[in-house]
Amino acid sequence: MILVTGGTGFIGSHTCVELLNAGYEVVVIDNLSNSKVDSLDAVKKITGKSCLFYKVDINDENGLREVFKKHKFECVIHFAGLKAVGESVEKPHWYYSNNISGTLTLLKVMAEFNVKSIVFSSSATVYGCDNQSPLTEDMRTSATNPYGWTKVMQEQILSDIAFADSDMRVALLRYFNPIGAHPSGLIGENPNGIPNNLLPYVCLVAVGKLPHLNVFGDDYDTIDGSGVRDYIHVVDLAKGHLAAMRYLADHAGVLTVNLGTGNGYSVLQVVEAYKKASGKEIPVNISPRRPGDVASNFADASKAKKLLNWSAELDINDMCRDAWNFASKNM
Ligand code: WQD
Repeated sequence: MILVTGGTGFIGSHTCVELLNAGYEVVVIDNLSNSKVDSLDAVKKITGKSCLFYKVDINDENGLREVFKKHKFECVIHFAGLKAVGESVEKPHWYYSNNISGTLTLLKVMAEFNVKSIVFSSSATVYGCDNQSPLTEDMRTSATNPYGWTKVMQEQILSDIAFADSDMRVALLRYFNPIGAHPSGLIGENPNGIPNNLLPYVCLVAVGKLPHLNVFGDDYDTIDGSGVRDYIHVVDLAKGHLAAMRYLADHAGVLTVNLGTGNGYSVLQVVEAYKKASGKEIPVNISPRRPGDVASNFADASKAKKLLNWSAELDINDMCRDAWNFASKNM
Protein backbone atom coordinates (compact mmCIF):
# COMPACT_ATOMS: atom_id res chain seq x y z
CA MET A 1 0.00 0.00 0.00
CA ILE A 2 1.41 3.42 -1.02
CA LEU A 3 0.38 6.72 0.59
CA VAL A 4 0.35 9.67 -1.83
CA THR A 5 0.05 13.05 -0.13
CA GLY A 6 -1.24 15.77 -2.46
CA GLY A 7 -2.41 13.00 -4.79
CA THR A 8 -5.27 14.97 -6.37
CA GLY A 9 -2.81 17.54 -7.75
CA PHE A 10 -1.13 17.78 -11.15
CA ILE A 11 1.91 15.54 -10.59
CA GLY A 12 0.25 13.55 -7.81
CA SER A 13 -2.69 12.39 -9.95
CA HIS A 14 -0.37 11.37 -12.81
CA THR A 15 1.73 9.39 -10.31
CA CYS A 16 -1.41 7.64 -9.00
CA VAL A 17 -2.13 6.51 -12.59
CA GLU A 18 1.33 4.95 -12.90
CA LEU A 19 1.12 3.33 -9.43
CA LEU A 20 -2.28 1.76 -10.15
CA ASN A 21 -1.16 0.61 -13.61
CA ALA A 22 1.87 -1.02 -11.96
CA GLY A 23 -0.41 -2.93 -9.57
CA TYR A 24 0.12 -0.95 -6.36
CA GLU A 25 -2.74 -0.18 -3.96
CA VAL A 26 -2.93 3.59 -3.39
CA VAL A 27 -4.26 5.80 -0.60
CA VAL A 28 -4.46 9.54 -1.33
CA ILE A 29 -4.65 12.30 1.23
CA ASP A 30 -5.19 15.88 0.15
CA ASN A 31 -6.68 19.04 1.71
CA LEU A 32 -8.11 20.01 -1.72
CA SER A 33 -6.81 23.58 -1.29
CA ASN A 34 -5.51 23.69 -4.87
CA SER A 35 -7.08 20.68 -6.60
CA LYS A 36 -10.33 18.74 -6.89
CA VAL A 37 -11.15 15.21 -5.80
CA ASP A 38 -12.68 14.77 -9.31
CA SER A 39 -9.15 14.11 -10.56
CA LEU A 40 -9.36 10.72 -8.83
CA ASP A 41 -12.49 9.91 -10.85
CA ALA A 42 -10.42 10.62 -13.93
CA VAL A 43 -7.63 8.41 -12.57
CA LYS A 44 -10.21 5.61 -12.26
CA LYS A 45 -11.43 6.17 -15.83
CA ILE A 46 -7.84 5.92 -17.08
CA THR A 47 -6.78 2.87 -15.07
CA GLY A 48 -10.05 1.12 -14.24
CA LYS A 49 -8.89 1.11 -10.60
CA SER A 50 -9.66 3.32 -7.58
CA CYS A 51 -7.52 5.05 -5.00
CA LEU A 52 -8.81 5.35 -1.44
CA PHE A 53 -9.18 9.04 -0.58
CA TYR A 54 -9.15 10.89 2.74
CA LYS A 55 -9.54 14.67 2.95
CA VAL A 56 -6.71 15.27 5.39
CA ASP A 57 -4.24 18.14 5.74
CA ILE A 58 -0.61 17.13 6.37
CA ASN A 59 -0.64 19.50 9.37
CA ASP A 60 -3.52 17.51 10.95
CA GLU A 61 -1.60 15.09 13.16
CA ASN A 62 -4.65 13.20 14.40
CA GLY A 63 -6.11 13.05 10.91
CA LEU A 64 -2.88 11.53 9.65
CA ARG A 65 -2.79 9.09 12.57
CA GLU A 66 -6.29 7.83 11.71
CA VAL A 67 -5.16 7.06 8.16
CA PHE A 68 -2.00 5.30 9.31
CA LYS A 69 -4.05 3.20 11.77
CA LYS A 70 -6.13 1.87 8.87
CA HIS A 71 -3.38 1.05 6.37
CA LYS A 72 0.12 -0.44 6.43
CA PHE A 73 2.18 1.77 4.08
CA GLU A 74 5.37 0.50 2.46
CA CYS A 75 6.20 3.98 1.18
CA VAL A 76 4.95 7.57 1.26
CA ILE A 77 5.17 9.72 -1.86
CA HIS A 78 4.96 13.26 -0.53
CA PHE A 79 3.65 15.93 -2.93
CA ALA A 80 1.47 17.97 -0.57
CA GLY A 81 2.66 21.56 -0.16
CA LEU A 82 2.20 25.14 -1.27
CA LYS A 83 4.20 25.90 -4.43
CA ALA A 84 3.58 29.38 -5.84
CA VAL A 85 6.81 31.36 -5.85
CA GLY A 86 5.22 34.81 -5.88
CA GLU A 87 2.70 33.93 -3.18
CA SER A 88 5.51 32.64 -0.96
CA VAL A 89 7.20 36.05 -1.13
CA GLU A 90 3.95 37.74 -0.02
CA LYS A 91 3.06 35.14 2.67
CA PRO A 92 6.30 33.56 3.95
CA HIS A 93 4.93 32.55 7.35
CA TRP A 94 2.12 30.56 5.69
CA TYR A 95 4.62 28.81 3.41
CA TYR A 96 7.09 27.90 6.16
CA SER A 97 4.32 26.83 8.49
CA ASN A 98 2.42 24.73 5.97
CA ASN A 99 5.34 23.15 4.13
CA ILE A 100 7.88 22.67 6.92
CA SER A 101 5.54 21.93 9.83
CA GLY A 102 3.38 19.78 7.57
CA THR A 103 6.33 17.61 6.58
CA LEU A 104 7.53 17.40 10.20
CA THR A 105 4.05 16.26 11.25
CA LEU A 106 3.96 13.66 8.48
CA LEU A 107 7.41 12.37 9.50
CA LYS A 108 6.34 12.17 13.16
CA VAL A 109 3.33 10.01 12.33
CA MET A 110 5.38 7.89 9.90
CA ALA A 111 7.84 7.20 12.74
CA GLU A 112 5.01 6.22 15.11
CA PHE A 113 3.89 3.60 12.59
CA ASN A 114 7.43 2.54 11.63
CA VAL A 115 7.06 3.69 8.00
CA LYS A 116 10.63 4.25 6.85
CA SER A 117 10.44 5.07 3.13
CA ILE A 118 9.61 8.46 1.65
CA VAL A 119 9.84 9.90 -1.87
CA PHE A 120 9.91 13.68 -1.60
CA SER A 121 8.79 16.20 -4.20
CA SER A 122 11.75 18.57 -4.35
CA SER A 123 12.55 21.00 -7.14
CA ALA A 124 15.33 22.34 -9.35
CA THR A 125 14.61 25.61 -7.61
CA VAL A 126 17.02 24.42 -4.89
CA TYR A 127 19.91 25.09 -7.31
CA GLY A 128 19.31 28.79 -6.79
CA CYS A 129 20.85 31.26 -9.24
CA ASP A 130 24.58 30.71 -8.63
CA ASN A 131 25.00 27.30 -10.27
CA GLN A 132 25.71 26.87 -13.97
CA SER A 133 23.68 24.38 -16.06
CA PRO A 134 23.85 21.47 -16.65
CA LEU A 135 23.00 21.16 -12.98
CA THR A 136 24.36 18.21 -10.98
CA GLU A 137 23.11 16.88 -7.65
CA ASP A 138 26.36 17.64 -5.80
CA MET A 139 26.03 21.39 -6.34
CA ARG A 140 25.36 23.73 -3.44
CA THR A 141 21.70 24.49 -2.78
CA SER A 142 20.11 27.83 -1.99
CA ALA A 143 16.96 29.73 -2.87
CA THR A 144 15.75 33.16 -3.93
CA ASN A 145 12.27 32.94 -2.38
CA PRO A 146 10.52 31.36 0.64
CA TYR A 147 8.99 28.59 -1.48
CA GLY A 148 12.46 27.57 -2.67
CA TRP A 149 13.81 27.78 0.89
CA THR A 150 11.08 25.39 2.09
CA LYS A 151 12.39 22.85 -0.45
CA VAL A 152 16.02 23.40 0.63
CA MET A 153 15.01 23.04 4.30
CA GLN A 154 12.88 19.93 3.73
CA GLU A 155 15.79 18.29 1.92
CA GLN A 156 17.97 19.07 4.95
CA ILE A 157 15.36 17.77 7.44
CA LEU A 158 14.93 14.52 5.53
CA SER A 159 18.70 14.06 5.17
CA ASP A 160 19.26 14.62 8.90
CA ILE A 161 16.50 12.16 9.83
CA ALA A 162 18.04 9.55 7.53
CA PHE A 163 21.46 10.21 9.09
CA ALA A 164 19.99 9.56 12.55
CA ASP A 165 18.14 6.38 11.53
CA SER A 166 20.03 3.99 9.26
CA ASP A 167 16.79 2.21 8.35
CA MET A 168 15.31 5.33 6.74
CA ARG A 169 15.02 5.42 2.96
CA VAL A 170 14.68 8.90 1.42
CA ALA A 171 14.49 9.97 -2.23
CA LEU A 172 14.81 13.71 -2.91
CA LEU A 173 13.49 14.20 -6.44
CA ARG A 174 14.50 17.52 -8.00
CA TYR A 175 11.90 18.21 -10.69
CA PHE A 176 12.75 20.56 -13.50
CA ASN A 177 9.75 22.04 -15.34
CA PRO A 178 6.85 19.55 -15.45
CA ILE A 179 4.40 20.22 -18.30
CA GLY A 180 2.00 18.32 -20.53
CA ALA A 181 -0.84 16.01 -19.52
CA HIS A 182 -1.92 12.39 -19.64
CA PRO A 183 -2.59 11.49 -23.34
CA SER A 184 -6.21 10.68 -22.43
CA GLY A 185 -6.80 14.40 -21.82
CA LEU A 186 -8.61 13.47 -18.58
CA ILE A 187 -5.99 14.87 -16.17
CA GLY A 188 -3.62 17.79 -16.61
CA GLU A 189 -2.57 21.15 -15.23
CA ASN A 190 -5.41 23.61 -14.70
CA PRO A 191 -4.40 26.05 -11.94
CA ASN A 192 -6.86 28.41 -10.26
CA GLY A 193 -6.69 32.02 -11.49
CA ILE A 194 -4.03 33.48 -13.80
CA PRO A 195 -1.19 30.96 -14.11
CA ASN A 196 2.32 31.87 -13.03
CA ASN A 197 3.89 29.10 -15.08
CA LEU A 198 4.51 29.28 -18.82
CA LEU A 199 2.58 26.31 -20.19
CA PRO A 200 -0.80 26.77 -18.49
CA TYR A 201 -0.60 30.44 -19.51
CA VAL A 202 0.07 29.50 -23.15
CA CYS A 203 -2.82 27.02 -22.99
CA LEU A 204 -5.23 29.76 -21.89
CA VAL A 205 -4.03 31.96 -24.78
CA ALA A 206 -4.60 29.05 -27.18
CA VAL A 207 -8.19 28.49 -25.97
CA GLY A 208 -8.86 32.24 -26.21
CA LYS A 209 -9.16 33.01 -22.50
CA LEU A 210 -6.06 35.24 -22.43
CA PRO A 211 -5.15 37.66 -25.26
CA HIS A 212 -1.40 37.05 -25.52
CA LEU A 213 1.65 35.68 -23.76
CA ASN A 214 3.99 38.13 -22.02
CA VAL A 215 7.50 36.90 -22.69
CA PHE A 216 9.53 37.88 -19.61
CA GLY A 217 12.66 39.17 -21.31
CA ASP A 218 14.28 38.54 -24.70
CA ASP A 219 17.69 39.90 -23.75
CA TYR A 220 19.13 36.93 -21.87
CA ASP A 221 22.37 35.31 -23.05
CA THR A 222 20.49 32.39 -24.64
CA ILE A 223 19.82 31.06 -28.15
CA ASP A 224 17.12 33.66 -28.87
CA GLY A 225 17.29 35.88 -25.77
CA SER A 226 14.33 34.30 -23.97
CA GLY A 227 14.65 32.13 -20.86
CA VAL A 228 15.74 28.49 -21.24
CA ARG A 229 14.30 25.71 -19.06
CA ASP A 230 14.34 21.91 -18.92
CA TYR A 231 10.72 20.94 -19.61
CA ILE A 232 9.77 17.37 -18.73
CA HIS A 233 6.54 15.53 -19.59
CA VAL A 234 4.49 14.96 -16.42
CA VAL A 235 4.02 11.27 -17.38
CA ASP A 236 7.81 10.79 -17.56
CA LEU A 237 8.07 12.55 -14.22
CA ALA A 238 5.42 10.28 -12.67
CA LYS A 239 7.32 7.20 -13.88
CA GLY A 240 10.45 8.60 -12.25
CA HIS A 241 8.67 8.38 -8.88
CA LEU A 242 8.05 4.65 -9.29
CA ALA A 243 11.67 4.12 -10.31
CA ALA A 244 12.82 6.01 -7.19
CA MET A 245 10.43 4.08 -4.93
CA ARG A 246 11.73 0.75 -6.28
CA TYR A 247 15.32 1.92 -5.75
CA LEU A 248 14.51 2.71 -2.09
CA ALA A 249 13.18 -0.82 -1.58
CA ASP A 250 16.77 -2.05 -2.04
CA HIS A 251 18.79 0.92 -0.75
CA ALA A 252 18.62 2.62 2.67
CA GLY A 253 19.90 6.19 3.04
CA VAL A 254 19.32 9.30 0.92
CA LEU A 255 19.02 9.37 -2.87
CA THR A 256 19.17 12.88 -4.38
CA VAL A 257 18.38 12.89 -8.08
CA ASN A 258 17.42 15.27 -10.90
CA LEU A 259 14.28 14.45 -12.84
CA GLY A 260 14.76 16.38 -16.05
CA THR A 261 15.43 15.65 -19.71
CA GLY A 262 18.86 17.30 -19.84
CA ASN A 263 17.62 19.47 -22.75
CA GLY A 264 16.83 23.16 -22.48
CA TYR A 265 14.21 24.95 -24.57
CA SER A 266 13.64 28.71 -24.72
CA VAL A 267 10.28 30.37 -24.19
CA LEU A 268 10.06 31.26 -27.88
CA GLN A 269 10.99 27.71 -28.92
CA VAL A 270 8.23 26.34 -26.67
CA VAL A 271 5.73 28.80 -28.15
CA GLU A 272 6.66 27.60 -31.68
CA ALA A 273 6.28 23.95 -30.64
CA TYR A 274 2.91 24.68 -29.07
CA LYS A 275 1.68 26.57 -32.15
CA LYS A 276 2.62 23.54 -34.28
CA ALA A 277 0.93 21.11 -31.88
CA SER A 278 -2.28 23.14 -31.49
CA GLY A 279 -2.56 24.84 -34.87
CA LYS A 280 -3.33 27.99 -32.87
CA GLU A 281 -1.74 31.42 -33.06
CA ILE A 282 -0.04 32.44 -29.78
CA PRO A 283 0.44 36.23 -29.87
CA VAL A 284 3.43 37.31 -27.75
CA ASN A 285 4.29 40.59 -26.09
CA ILE A 286 7.97 41.02 -25.18
CA SER A 287 7.96 42.27 -21.55
CA PRO A 288 10.61 43.11 -18.94
CA ARG A 289 12.43 40.29 -17.18
CA ARG A 290 10.66 38.70 -14.18
CA PRO A 291 12.60 39.27 -10.93
CA GLY A 292 14.29 36.11 -9.69
CA ASP A 293 14.41 34.42 -13.10
CA VAL A 294 17.67 32.89 -14.25
CA ALA A 295 18.64 32.90 -17.94
CA SER A 296 19.08 29.17 -18.30
CA ASN A 297 18.35 26.15 -16.12
CA PHE A 298 18.59 22.52 -17.23
CA ALA A 299 19.57 19.18 -15.70
CA ASP A 300 22.46 16.81 -15.94
CA ALA A 301 20.13 13.80 -16.08
CA SER A 302 22.83 11.10 -15.99
CA LYS A 303 22.50 10.07 -12.31
CA ALA A 304 18.83 9.03 -12.67
CA LYS A 305 19.74 7.01 -15.73
CA LYS A 306 22.63 5.31 -13.96
CA LEU A 307 20.98 4.59 -10.59
CA LEU A 308 17.29 4.30 -11.48
CA ASN A 309 17.59 3.18 -15.10
CA TRP A 310 15.10 5.97 -15.73
CA SER A 311 15.25 8.72 -18.36
CA ALA A 312 12.65 10.95 -19.96
CA GLU A 313 11.26 9.42 -23.15
CA LEU A 314 8.87 12.13 -24.37
CA ASP A 315 10.04 15.26 -26.19
CA ILE A 316 8.81 18.86 -26.36
CA ASN A 317 6.43 18.07 -29.22
CA ASP A 318 4.80 15.29 -27.16
CA MET A 319 4.52 17.67 -24.22
CA CYS A 320 2.85 20.39 -26.30
CA ARG A 321 0.57 17.89 -28.06
CA ASP A 322 -0.69 16.49 -24.76
CA ALA A 323 -0.93 19.90 -23.09
CA TRP A 324 -3.06 21.17 -26.00
CA ASN A 325 -5.22 18.01 -25.98
CA PHE A 326 -5.99 18.56 -22.29
CA ALA A 327 -6.48 22.34 -22.62
CA SER A 328 -8.83 22.03 -25.60
CA LYS A 329 -11.07 19.73 -23.52
CA ASN A 330 -10.81 21.25 -20.06
CA MET A 331 -9.70 24.90 -20.03
C1 WQD B 1 9.43 29.23 -17.33
C2 WQD B 1 10.01 30.26 -18.32
C3 WQD B 1 9.86 32.50 -17.52
C4 WQD B 1 5.47 32.70 -17.60
C5 WQD B 1 8.88 27.64 -11.61
C6 WQD B 1 9.27 27.55 -10.19
C7 WQD B 1 9.86 26.20 -9.92
C8 WQD B 1 8.91 25.10 -10.38
C9 WQD B 1 8.56 25.29 -11.85
C10 WQD B 1 7.58 24.35 -8.55
C11 WQD B 1 10.83 31.35 -17.63
C12 WQD B 1 8.99 32.32 -18.75
C13 WQD B 1 6.78 32.26 -17.70
C14 WQD B 1 5.00 33.72 -18.46
C15 WQD B 1 7.19 33.82 -19.47
N1 WQD B 1 7.72 25.13 -9.62
N2 WQD B 1 7.61 32.82 -18.61
N3 WQD B 1 5.89 34.25 -19.37
O1 WQD B 1 10.14 29.90 -13.25
O2 WQD B 1 11.32 28.01 -14.49
O3 WQD B 1 10.02 27.51 -12.42
O4 WQD B 1 7.98 26.60 -11.95
O5 WQD B 1 8.37 23.54 -8.13
O6 WQD B 1 10.06 26.09 -8.53
O7 WQD B 1 10.28 28.50 -9.94
O8 WQD B 1 8.81 28.15 -14.50
O9 WQD B 1 6.89 28.29 -16.02
O10 WQD B 1 7.23 30.16 -14.33
O11 WQD B 1 8.78 29.96 -16.28
O12 WQD B 1 7.96 34.32 -20.31
O13 WQD B 1 3.82 34.16 -18.42
O14 WQD B 1 8.92 30.93 -18.95
O15 WQD B 1 10.52 33.77 -17.56
O16 WQD B 1 11.88 31.69 -18.52
P1 WQD B 1 10.16 28.48 -13.69
P2 WQD B 1 7.84 29.15 -15.26
